[in-house]
Amino acid sequence: MLKQILLLAEILIGLLDIDPKDIPYYKLPPVSKLRIRPAAHAVDEEYMVKFNLAIKRMKELDVKDPSDPRGFSQQANIHCAYCNGAYKVGDKELQVHYSWLFFPYHRWYLYFYERILGSLINDTSFALPYWNWDHPKGMRFPPMFDQPNVYPDLYNPRRNNDHRGQAILDLVHFGDDVKATDLQRMCNNMVLLYRQMVTNSPCSQLFYGKPYTVETGPKPGQGVVENIPHTPVHIWVGTVVGLDLGNKKSDGEDMGNFYTSGLDPAFYCHHANVDRMWTIWQTIGGKRKDIDDPDFLNAELFFYDENKKPYRVKVRDTLNHKKMGFDYLHMPTPWRNYKL
Ligand code: C2O
Repeated sequence: MLKQILLLAEILIGLLDIDPKDIPYYKLPPVSKLRIRPAAHAVDEEYMVKFNLAIKRMKELDVKDPSDPRGFSQQANIHCAYCNGAYKVGDKELQVHYSWLFFPYHRWYLYFYERILGSLINDTSFALPYWNWDHPKGMRFPPMFDQPNVYPDLYNPRRNNDHRGQAILDLVHFGDDVKATDLQRMCNNMVLLYRQMVTNSPCSQLFYGKPYTVETGPKPGQGVVENIPHTPVHIWVGTVVGLDLGNKKSDGEDMGNFYTSGLDPAFYCHHANVDRMWTIWQTIGGKRKDIDDPDFLNAELFFYDENKKPYRVKVRDTLNHKKMGFDYLHMPTPWRNYKL
């Protein structure tokens, strides 16, 4: 019996009017050189100029041809397509959050996003930056996203104004600003990271999240790191809920709500670090093994590549990020010594 709920391809293709049989499986291209994703707080000006230009070109595609799947809003919509009940499988909601699909889905999403950006600036080595929020030096909002005059395309006005500049991120932020010194906050973050990455995720189900199949339906249960710190970082960046946004009251837009989060370039930087946490977790050892359930490995998703071609991709191809052609520039992980 077919257990995969993820015939996302069929669903989306149905809406897009393409015959699913015409959609090929994506074969990972051979890797000659890894794209190395740098820490956002440590990149040089040349990198920021390049990244800003790539996002700018993506936004220009929106104007040139709103149906271009590589466009900035189309790309943001891809994220939204798999959340907040935008699409359904039968009577069931399609969801890539709150289950074992969380890490693989977002890895594929960034994979294509990065390739599209690279192709728009003719740089096949282009790699997304990661927000190194697990290191004290990266616990502020990365400056490149907050310089409207220098890097206008990385800037987004729909963010929490109190969390700019020198403000230290709170990795358990769920809406309330708690009073604490910078040092306390950094220490709390370190302790929390050890707890989430090591103590609370000793096995695959706790880390990845629960199985998602036709029987379970959507949202069977999220992994430890998806819950915290992934979600608090979203909320910390987005506007305060209830704030007057002019045309409506804020529901956390952009970053604090699934339906708009892909509209903030910082999304991809945050998720690169979420993805990096996955690569680090895989090296911690003990009973931390990847999931080998075929329902997981054979689950399919649907994306467009940098040549506007639609593909079906499989979860199984995400388990080794280097085979996908990217890696993370090494940064120390001091939280690993914060066992309390
Ligand atoms: Cu698809 Cu951080 O959410």
